[in-house]
Amino acid sequence: MSARFTTLGRYPTTRLRRNRGEEWSRRLVAENKLSVDDLIWPVFVQEGQNARTPVASMPGVDRLSIDLFAEAAKEARDLGIPAIAIFPETDPKAKTPDAREAYNPGNLVCRAITAVKKAVPDIGIVCDVALDPFNSDGHDGIVRDGRILNDESVEALVKQAIVQTEAGADIQAPSDMMDGRIGAIRAALDARGFQHEQIMSYAAKYASAFYNPFRDAIGSSGALKGDKKTYQMDYANSDEALREVGFDIEEGADMVMVKPGLPYLDIVRRVKDTFGVPTYAYQVSGEYAMLKGAADRGWLDWNKVLIETLTGFKRAGCDGILTYGAVDAARLLNSR
Ligand code: PBG
Repeated sequence: MSARFTTLGRYPTTRLRRNRGEEWSRRLVAENKLSVDDLIWPVFVQEGQNARTPVASMPGVDRLSIDLFAEAAKEARDLGIPAIAIFPETDPKAKTPDAREAYNPGNLVCRAITAVKKAVPDIGIVCDVALDPFNSDGHDGIVRDGRILNDESVEALVKQAIVQTEAGADIQAPSDMMDGRIGAIRAALDARGFQHEQIMSYAAKYASAFYNPFRDAIGSSGALKGDKKTYQMDYANSDEALREVGFDIEEGADMVMVKPGLPYLDIVRRVKDTFGVPTYAYQVSGEYAMLKGAADRGWLDWNKVLIETLTGFKRAGCDGILTYGAVDAARLLNSR
């Protein structure tokens, strides 16, 4: 041992393992703590009564009809989960190139919001703003001549955010990655007296192969033509994420999100350090499938990898995490 740390090397008897010796001591020195308060539970909804359909690529996850969705929301509230996020599987017959079903006040999402608000008024409802569940081509914006139109898409997204807010959603979460949508949605909500309704921006959302199981769940994977690289971010980039987040904050986002989660913890840390605003990450469908699929084969311990990964998000700087494992995590955290 010829090399010596100039400062640390002065304490040759220091033993880092001393603090790790007992469980109570590890608790005492823990720098980060995962809590039920950090969890947002994404749920898929479908038409029907007392109906549930397993999502093949997400073992353990079912799409729920509205009545079962309201029961699930009650269970989440009882476990202490602060908020749920709604994702609809739209009837393929209602999908059009202009995605007008997105701003139909009687659509599946709006009916689900109203039902949950009535059954469980004290759970927060997060609602995606993006056209992909309603678009016959599976894109988040409106497509013409093979291009995703920005400003026309923003107009549709604004209408969608309005009907969802009118139905009772608390947080609008634009996941579409069109430029300027946060400012447009904020202005439209304010103009209608919705000053208290929040916006959680999917600010740094990357074009990722980890979304595939989600697209199966909402039935958009068959429809999707091409990829989303002209609007979602290139995963080679990190400085650009700070520009995306900065603009969204300037335009009025109350909370920002990085997505996907685990491969992007460096982005979470930069966002949190740079802006210090409430910062979230989405542990997306592919991440869930990866962990749960391996656990189902006996290759990983689901409970352990779930808590370990969620604590990793906290360590990276997250204030909260959207995860399909929210109910399992809440049960584990409550029984500690
Ligand atoms: C749609 C949307 C996606 C997700 C959330 N909102 C998919 C996509 O952008 O293609 C992904 C969530 C997940 O994979 O769990 N705009």
